[in-house]
Amino acid sequence: MDRIRIVGGNALNGIIPISGAKNAALPLMIASLLTSDTLTLENVPHLADVEGLIRILGNHGVDIAVNGRREHQDGSYSRTVHFTCRTVADTTAPYELVSKMRASFWVIGPLLAREGQARVSLPGGCAIGTRPVDLFIEGLTALGAEMEIDGGYINAKAPKGGLIGARYTFPKVSVGATHVMLMAASLANGTTVIGNAAREPEVVDLANCLIAMGAKISGAGTSTITIEGVPSLSGARHRVLPDRIETGTYAMAVAMTGGDVTLSGTDITLLDTAVEAIRRAGAEVSAVEGGIRVIGHGDQIRPVDIVTEPFPGFPTDLQAQFMGLMTRANGISHVTETIFENRFMHVQELARLGAKITLSGQTARIEGVTRLRGAPVMATDLRASVSLVIAGLAAEGETMVSRVYHLDRGFEWLEEKLTRCGAIVERISD
Ligand code: EPZ
Repeated sequence: MDRIRIVGGNALNGIIPISGAKNAALPLMIASLLTSDTLTLENVPHLADVEGLIRILGNHGVDIAVNGRREHQDGSYSRTVHFTCRTVADTTAPYELVSKMRASFWVIGPLLAREGQARVSLPGGCAIGTRPVDLFIEGLTALGAEMEIDGGYINAKAPKGGLIGARYTFPKVSVGATHVMLMAASLANGTTVIGNAAREPEVVDLANCLIAMGAKISGAGTSTITIEGVPSLSGARHRVLPDRIETGTYAMAVAMTGGDVTLSGTDITLLDTAVEAIRRAGAEVSAVEGGIRVIGHGDQIRPVDIVTEPFPGFPTDLQAQFMGLMTRANGISHVTETIFENRFMHVQELARLGAKITLSGQTARIEGVTRLRGAPVMATDLRASVSLVIAGLAAEGETMVSRVYHLDRGFEWLEEKLTRCGAIVERISD
């Protein structure tokens, strides 16, 4: 199993190209199930989760062509991928596939809308929490679907003439359930109004793509989204938005190691709250043409308290990385996680590098230390793993991060991007 070896202590200087967003690419790819025409997505990142979903969609009958794998001058891959689902081959999403990637559960929306039925395995829990699907069931039921749980599967059936537009307000904000409602309601009869919708940029990206496919959607990016159902959707060409979590991760890495890095191909407005927190911690972050410039001062990190919240609040997907940054702040900070109940697996591993963190319920108290020391570490989820990488970059000596497959799920060309900026990072394949 691959490991990543980091020798810490170097400042980061140079340009890091930001990839297309994993969490936008996944729902956009699933949207290809809504039409018999070709959906072309540009800027699709090369990640294990994307490859996994390609296999899952193939099972449902989607033909996939990866076009012109072109390498940009700055070294990042940005792929254009064509998805064509002339006919749906199978409306069942089996346990073996759904259990590997939670987002594949989201096929339930387009399958139900287009085929009138779907049988999708319950995704089960995962390392960061129990992650139930009650909001999907309630939302789709509101559109007239019959939803029944049987033998670990959800059997969903639309009324005879198809799903029916309705007003539905989520009791809790859910990114995935908002994606599914957007896709399902796009092909429903009549108008759907979703209340308490997720406002994440990835939801807006999906809505924009659906609009390009012929859907009638307004209000994406606000808490109330209105969808006027249409009888069918067509193909479209859409560019996946930049990955705000990758952007924030590298910005925090620079804040931690010191240095001067331009994050190219990204947009500062996607992560206002995180940028504000990084600035308060002492780094300079500014919008420049085509990206963001981050100047870090390494040793002069200030303590900042954060609380994770749905967008536009501080993203849970940057919580572990920010905690990594705070381990070297000159004072005490607090990080509170409100989205997932078990998203602190990095705490023990950061402690192996010398961090002083105590947990009390959903809040971590971090007492900054002047130095971290390299150590062997591992983590059980994607963002936790990358927090260990950025802590390792600032630690003295060698850090060996195992279970690299977590990183490969969400960070494209991680070692290359960091190495080009002066870090000592290498992958060791055993
Ligand atoms: C998306 O997951 C992201 N995944 C996650 O990123 C991200 O952490 C999360 O949104 C929150 O921003 C993708 O986009 C592929 P939710 P999702 O439904 O949609 C509860 C990463 O590291 N909930 O918004 O699954 C749920 O348990 C990943 O890239 C219910 O209670 O998250 C959680 O507490 C990890 N019932 C909260 O809502 C439901 O039916 C928010 O989850 C659904 C969710």
